[in-house]
Amino acid sequence: MVPMITLNDQSTLPQLGFGTALIPLDQTADVVGQALQAGYRHIDTGQLYGNEQGVGTAIAASGIPREELYVTSKLSTGDHRPDDVRRSFDKTLERLGLDRLDFFLIHWPLPTRYDGDYVSTWKAVTDLVADGRLRTAGVSNFEPAHLDRVIADTGLVPAVNQIEAHPYFANDTVREASRRHGIAVEAWGPLGQGAVLGNELLGKIAAAHGKTISQVTLRWHIQRGDVVFPKTTSRKRMEENLDLFGFSLSAEEVEAINSLDQGEAGRRGPHPDTFDYVP
Ligand SMILES: NC(=O)c1ccc[n+]([C@@H]2O[C@H](COP(=O)([O-])OP(=O)(O)OC[C@H]3O[C@@H](n4cnc5c(N)ncnc54)[C@H](OP(=O)(O)O)[C@@H]3O)[C@@H](O)[C@H]2O)c1
Repeated sequence: MVPMITLNDQSTLPQLGFGTALIPLDQTADVVGQALQAGYRHIDTGQLYGNEQGVGTAIAASGIPREELYVTSKLSTGDHRPDDVRRSFDKTLERLGLDRLDFFLIHWPLPTRYDGDYVSTWKAVTDLVADGRLRTAGVSNFEPAHLDRVIADTGLVPAVNQIEAHPYFANDTVREASRRHGIAVEAWGPLGQGAVLGNELLGKIAAAHGKTISQVTLRWHIQRGDVVFPKTTSRKRMEENLDLFGFSLSAEEVEAINSLDQGEAGRRGPHPDTFDYVP
């Protein structure tokens, strides 16, 4: 049974979900359909992934009651201007076949674009909540200074901050800054996008539990209190990644995994202060 996390707006979210980045577009409906059959109820997508339509097809075909599903999408880096936020959000709802979205996040802060103004973008995303078309507004890849600024300027605290985190890049400074504001942390690339799967120490801990490295790594995230949504196109791995709740890591094992942190050298994605890709 996947635990539910309660957020600062009193909404809830399953702590384990399914990621959809880089699933080939022509396979998205099938892969997400399989994930829903396997038992996932929280799906993470984004406008930049180009696969919202496939996610929508899978949701419609699943027959799962809408209130049991938790769907996240993220604002394209090309749509930060407030009018574009509203327009592109409408298109997201249309592609997903939903009349209300559960979570919508600013995908990247882009401090070097749009005159450094991610505050009016944040305000526009929160307006969608006021409109009733979005349940929960959040951010992604926000560094502590970005969080401080949107909160100071609007008084509106994001419910989640989705950031890169895994054993090679624990990202604890941003995790702790988020928590201090009462913001839940979502760890993207929880398996280091596959990089941690050959690690010897993780292999030893996995063998001691009769589990796989993926399961031990995801369990570590769960015990740190973060939300995770590993991506896989394999049905067998979907089931493996869901099976995290019949064992637990000792405090010593958690500490040992913490020691794999390489700081900046372990980062896989771009740094949010300089990332400026716009499609
Ligand atoms: N906000 C952001 O900027 C941002 C950035 C990146 C990702 N994300 C989100 O986070 C999600 C997860 O991150 P991610 O997809 O980058 O990386 P990830 O989940 O850490 O790793 C995915 C890789 O691990 C493999 N894998 C998954 N489960 C496995 C298992 N049990 N055994 C062996 N290999 C396994 C997958 O291969 P197979 O498919 O071949 O199994 C894939 O190559 C994304 O899908 C997306 O929704 C957000």
